[in-house]
Amino acid sequence: MFQESANYLKSKVNRSSGIAIILGSGLGELAQKVENPVYINYQEIPHFKTSTAPDHKGRFVFGSFGGKEVVFMQGRLHYYEGYSLQEVTFPIRVLKEIGVKTLIVTNAAGGINKTFAAGDIMLIEDHINLLGTSPLIGPNIASHGERFFDMTYAYTPRLQKIAKESAAQIGLPLQKGVYIACTGPSFETPAEIRAFRLWGADAVGMSTVPEVIVAVHCGMEVLGLSLITNAAAGVLGTPLCGQKVIETAQKKGREFEALIERIVEQI
Ligand code: HPA
Repeated sequence: MFQESANYLKSKVNRSSGIAIILGSGLGELAQKVENPVYINYQEIPHFKTSTAPDHKGRFVFGSFGGKEVVFMQGRLHYYEGYSLQEVTFPIRVLKEIGVKTLIVTNAAGGINKTFAAGDIMLIEDHINLLGTSPLIGPNIASHGERFFDMTYAYTPRLQKIAKESAAQIGLPLQKGVYIACTGPSFETPAEIRAFRLWGADAVGMSTVPEVIVAVHCGMEVLGLSLITNAAAGVLGTPLCGQKVIETAQKKGREFEALIERIVEQI
Protein backbone atom coordinates (compact mmCIF):
# COMPACT_ATOMS: atom_id res chain seq x y z
CA MET A 1 0.00 0.00 0.00
CA PHE A 2 2.79 2.42 0.85
CA GLN A 3 4.24 1.84 -2.64
CA GLU A 4 1.00 3.12 -4.19
CA SER A 5 1.10 6.24 -2.00
CA ALA A 6 4.76 6.75 -2.90
CA ASN A 7 4.01 6.34 -6.62
CA TYR A 8 1.32 9.00 -6.33
CA LEU A 9 3.79 11.42 -4.73
CA LYS A 10 6.41 10.64 -7.37
CA SER A 11 3.86 11.34 -10.11
CA LYS A 12 3.08 14.75 -8.59
CA VAL A 13 6.50 15.93 -7.44
CA ASN A 14 9.45 15.75 -9.75
CA ARG A 15 12.23 16.13 -7.20
CA SER A 16 14.05 13.83 -4.84
CA SER A 17 14.19 14.90 -1.22
CA GLY A 18 16.76 13.13 0.93
CA ILE A 19 15.63 14.82 4.15
CA ALA A 20 12.17 14.76 5.74
CA ILE A 21 11.18 17.03 8.62
CA ILE A 22 8.08 16.30 10.69
CA LEU A 23 6.68 19.44 12.27
CA GLY A 24 5.05 19.04 15.68
CA SER A 25 2.28 20.99 17.41
CA GLY A 26 2.67 24.75 16.96
CA LEU A 27 5.68 24.30 14.66
CA GLY A 28 3.86 23.96 11.33
CA GLU A 29 4.81 27.48 10.20
CA LEU A 30 8.43 26.42 9.79
CA ALA A 31 7.57 25.11 6.35
CA GLN A 32 6.87 28.65 5.16
CA LYS A 33 10.52 29.31 4.41
CA VAL A 34 10.67 26.57 1.80
CA GLU A 35 11.62 27.82 -1.66
CA ASN A 36 9.58 26.75 -4.70
CA PRO A 37 7.12 24.80 -2.53
CA VAL A 38 4.91 22.02 -3.84
CA TYR A 39 2.01 21.20 -1.52
CA ILE A 40 0.36 17.78 -1.40
CA ASN A 41 -2.54 17.34 1.01
CA TYR A 42 -2.62 13.99 2.83
CA GLN A 43 -6.29 13.69 1.81
CA GLU A 44 -5.47 13.39 -1.88
CA ILE A 45 -2.88 10.60 -1.42
CA PRO A 46 -4.14 7.02 -1.83
CA HIS A 47 -4.34 5.13 1.52
CA PHE A 48 -3.30 8.20 3.51
CA LYS A 49 -5.04 9.26 6.72
CA THR A 50 -5.19 12.90 7.70
CA SER A 51 -4.43 14.61 10.98
CA THR A 52 -7.30 15.73 13.21
CA ALA A 53 -5.04 17.29 15.86
CA PRO A 54 -5.28 21.05 16.46
CA ASP A 55 -2.80 23.13 14.43
CA HIS A 56 -1.82 20.15 12.23
CA LYS A 57 -2.46 21.12 8.61
CA GLY A 58 -2.14 17.66 7.09
CA ARG A 59 0.05 18.13 4.04
CA PHE A 60 3.51 17.56 2.61
CA VAL A 61 5.54 20.58 1.55
CA PHE A 62 8.31 19.72 -0.92
CA GLY A 63 10.96 22.31 -1.74
CA SER A 64 14.42 23.58 -0.96
CA PHE A 65 15.44 24.68 2.52
CA GLY A 66 18.91 25.21 3.95
CA GLY A 67 20.29 24.59 0.47
CA LYS A 68 18.88 21.04 0.26
CA GLU A 69 15.85 19.34 -1.21
CA VAL A 70 13.58 18.56 1.73
CA VAL A 71 10.04 17.47 2.42
CA PHE A 72 8.19 18.84 5.42
CA MET A 73 5.27 17.04 7.00
CA GLN A 74 3.01 19.83 8.19
CA GLY A 75 1.07 17.80 10.69
CA ARG A 76 1.41 14.22 11.86
CA LEU A 77 -0.91 11.48 13.09
CA HIS A 78 -1.16 10.58 16.76
CA TYR A 79 -2.21 7.42 18.56
CA TYR A 80 -4.74 9.42 20.61
CA GLU A 81 -6.61 10.31 17.41
CA GLY A 82 -7.67 6.67 17.24
CA TYR A 83 -5.21 5.59 14.56
CA SER A 84 -3.26 2.38 14.99
CA LEU A 85 0.51 2.77 15.32
CA GLN A 86 0.80 1.20 11.85
CA GLU A 87 -1.38 4.03 10.54
CA VAL A 88 0.52 6.65 12.55
CA THR A 89 3.81 5.52 10.98
CA PHE A 90 2.52 4.82 7.46
CA PRO A 91 3.98 8.15 6.20
CA ILE A 92 7.47 7.05 7.29
CA ARG A 93 7.22 3.98 5.05
CA VAL A 94 6.10 6.22 2.19
CA LEU A 95 9.02 8.60 2.81
CA LYS A 96 11.37 5.63 2.68
CA GLU A 97 9.90 4.62 -0.69
CA ILE A 98 10.42 8.10 -2.17
CA GLY A 99 14.10 8.06 -1.18
CA VAL A 100 14.27 9.85 2.17
CA LYS A 101 17.44 8.89 4.05
CA THR A 102 17.33 11.34 6.98
CA LEU A 103 14.38 12.03 9.25
CA ILE A 104 14.19 15.07 11.53
CA VAL A 105 11.35 14.75 14.05
CA THR A 106 10.11 17.68 16.10
CA ASN A 107 7.49 17.90 18.82
CA ALA A 108 6.09 19.98 21.63
CA ALA A 109 6.84 18.39 25.00
CA GLY A 110 6.43 18.93 28.72
CA GLY A 111 9.58 19.42 30.77
CA ILE A 112 10.15 16.76 33.42
CA ASN A 113 13.72 17.84 34.12
CA LYS A 114 13.46 20.64 36.68
CA THR A 115 16.30 22.60 35.09
CA PHE A 116 14.24 23.01 31.89
CA ALA A 117 12.14 26.15 31.27
CA ALA A 118 9.26 26.71 28.85
CA GLY A 119 10.74 27.76 25.53
CA ASP A 120 13.85 25.57 25.82
CA ILE A 121 14.78 23.30 22.93
CA MET A 122 15.89 19.77 23.81
CA LEU A 123 17.98 17.48 21.64
CA ILE A 124 16.49 13.98 22.01
CA GLU A 125 19.32 11.62 22.92
CA ASP A 126 17.13 8.60 23.58
CA HIS A 127 13.52 7.66 24.25
CA ILE A 128 11.24 5.53 26.41
CA ASN A 129 8.23 3.96 24.71
CA LEU A 130 5.32 3.99 27.16
CA LEU A 131 2.63 3.57 24.52
CA GLY A 132 2.25 -0.07 25.49
CA THR A 133 2.80 -1.34 21.96
CA SER A 134 5.02 -0.98 18.89
CA PRO A 135 4.24 0.05 15.30
CA LEU A 136 6.12 -3.08 14.21
CA ILE A 137 3.76 -5.62 15.80
CA GLY A 138 2.66 -7.93 12.98
CA PRO A 139 4.45 -9.38 9.97
CA ASN A 140 7.88 -7.88 9.34
CA ILE A 141 8.23 -5.73 6.23
CA ALA A 142 11.45 -7.42 5.16
CA SER A 143 12.02 -5.08 2.19
CA HIS A 144 12.46 -2.26 4.72
CA GLY A 145 14.36 -3.94 7.53
CA GLU A 146 15.05 -6.88 9.77
CA ARG A 147 12.68 -8.35 12.35
CA PHE A 148 15.00 -7.64 15.28
CA PHE A 149 17.19 -4.59 15.06
CA ASP A 150 19.37 -2.37 17.20
CA MET A 151 18.07 0.78 18.90
CA THR A 152 21.34 1.72 20.65
CA TYR A 153 22.01 4.49 18.14
CA ALA A 154 18.40 5.27 17.19
CA TYR A 155 19.16 8.99 17.40
CA THR A 156 22.12 9.15 15.03
CA PRO A 157 25.26 10.38 16.86
CA ARG A 158 26.51 12.18 13.72
CA LEU A 159 23.31 14.23 13.56
CA GLN A 160 23.35 14.94 17.29
CA LYS A 161 26.82 16.40 16.87
CA ILE A 162 25.64 18.57 13.96
CA ALA A 163 22.66 19.77 16.05
CA LYS A 164 24.92 20.77 18.96
CA GLU A 165 27.34 22.58 16.65
CA SER A 166 24.50 24.31 14.80
CA ALA A 167 22.95 25.54 18.06
CA ALA A 168 26.33 26.87 19.23
CA GLN A 169 26.87 28.63 15.89
CA ILE A 170 23.60 30.56 16.13
CA GLY A 171 23.97 31.18 19.87
CA LEU A 172 20.98 29.07 20.88
CA PRO A 173 21.20 27.13 24.17
CA LEU A 174 20.36 23.46 23.58
CA GLN A 175 19.18 21.11 26.33
CA LYS A 176 19.72 17.36 25.97
CA GLY A 177 17.72 14.46 27.30
CA VAL A 178 15.39 11.49 27.11
CA TYR A 179 11.87 11.78 25.65
CA ILE A 180 9.11 9.58 27.00
CA ALA A 181 6.01 8.93 24.86
CA CYS A 182 2.60 8.60 26.55
CA THR A 183 -0.66 7.98 24.73
CA GLY A 184 -2.45 11.14 25.85
CA PRO A 185 -4.82 12.80 25.17
CA SER A 186 -4.96 13.63 28.87
CA PHE A 187 -1.80 15.21 30.15
CA GLU A 188 0.01 13.09 32.73
CA THR A 189 -0.60 13.09 36.47
CA PRO A 190 2.00 14.52 38.86
CA ALA A 191 2.61 10.96 40.19
CA GLU A 192 3.36 9.73 36.66
CA ILE A 193 5.77 12.60 36.09
CA ARG A 194 7.60 11.82 39.35
CA ALA A 195 7.89 8.17 38.27
CA PHE A 196 9.16 9.13 34.79
CA ARG A 197 11.82 11.37 36.38
CA LEU A 198 13.09 8.38 38.37
CA TRP A 199 13.28 6.39 35.12
CA GLY A 200 15.55 9.04 33.61
CA ALA A 201 13.06 10.86 31.39
CA ASP A 202 13.55 14.59 30.80
CA ALA A 203 10.59 15.47 28.58
CA VAL A 204 7.16 13.96 27.89
CA GLY A 205 4.97 14.01 24.81
CA MET A 206 2.38 12.12 22.78
CA SER A 207 4.21 11.46 19.50
CA THR A 208 7.60 10.86 17.83
CA VAL A 209 8.55 7.48 19.31
CA PRO A 210 6.52 5.32 16.84
CA GLU A 211 7.89 7.31 13.90
CA VAL A 212 11.45 6.92 15.15
CA ILE A 213 11.05 3.16 15.64
CA VAL A 214 9.88 2.74 12.04
CA ALA A 215 12.51 5.13 10.67
CA VAL A 216 15.27 3.14 12.39
CA HIS A 217 13.71 -0.10 11.14
CA CYS A 218 13.94 1.13 7.58
CA GLY A 219 17.51 2.33 7.97
CA MET A 220 17.07 6.09 8.18
CA GLU A 221 19.29 8.44 10.12
CA VAL A 222 17.22 10.20 12.78
CA LEU A 223 17.44 13.51 14.61
CA GLY A 224 14.88 14.47 17.27
CA LEU A 225 14.19 17.92 18.72
CA SER A 226 11.62 18.78 21.40
CA LEU A 227 10.34 22.22 22.13
CA ILE A 228 9.61 22.39 25.85
CA THR A 229 6.29 24.22 25.93
CA ASN A 230 5.48 23.77 29.61
CA ALA A 231 6.67 22.29 32.87
CA ALA A 232 5.16 18.79 33.10
CA ALA A 233 2.29 18.12 35.51
CA GLY A 234 3.07 18.80 39.15
CA VAL A 235 6.43 20.50 38.50
CA LEU A 236 5.06 24.00 39.09
CA GLY A 237 1.76 23.02 40.71
CA THR A 238 -0.29 24.89 38.10
CA PRO A 239 -2.75 23.19 35.71
CA LEU A 240 -1.71 22.45 32.12
CA CYS A 241 -3.53 23.95 29.13
CA GLY A 242 -3.48 22.55 25.57
CA GLN A 243 -4.01 25.93 23.94
CA LYS A 244 -1.06 27.41 25.85
CA VAL A 245 1.16 24.55 24.69
CA ILE A 246 0.49 25.48 21.06
CA GLU A 247 0.95 29.22 21.68
CA THR A 248 4.31 28.68 23.38
CA ALA A 249 5.48 26.50 20.49
CA GLN A 250 4.38 29.11 17.97
CA LYS A 251 6.29 31.86 19.82
CA LYS A 252 9.54 29.91 19.57
CA GLY A 253 9.00 29.04 15.91
CA ARG A 254 11.63 31.45 14.52
CA GLU A 255 14.47 30.13 16.68
CA PHE A 256 13.47 26.56 15.95
CA GLU A 257 13.42 27.34 12.25
CA ALA A 258 16.88 28.94 12.39
CA LEU A 259 18.25 25.88 14.17
CA ILE A 260 16.74 23.41 11.73
CA GLU A 261 17.90 25.44 8.74
CA ARG A 262 21.46 25.48 10.07
CA ILE A 263 21.31 21.75 10.75
CA VAL A 264 20.00 20.96 7.25
CA GLU A 265 22.82 23.04 5.72
CA GLN A 266 25.36 20.83 7.51
CA ILE A 267 23.83 17.39 7.01
N1 HPA B 1 2.63 16.19 28.31
C1 HPA B 1 2.42 15.50 27.18
N2 HPA B 1 2.51 16.03 25.97
C2 HPA B 1 2.84 17.34 25.89
C3 HPA B 1 3.07 18.12 27.04
C4 HPA B 1 2.96 17.52 28.32
O1 HPA B 1 3.17 18.14 29.38
N3 HPA B 1 3.37 19.37 26.60
C5 HPA B 1 3.33 19.33 25.24
N4 HPA B 1 3.00 18.11 24.81
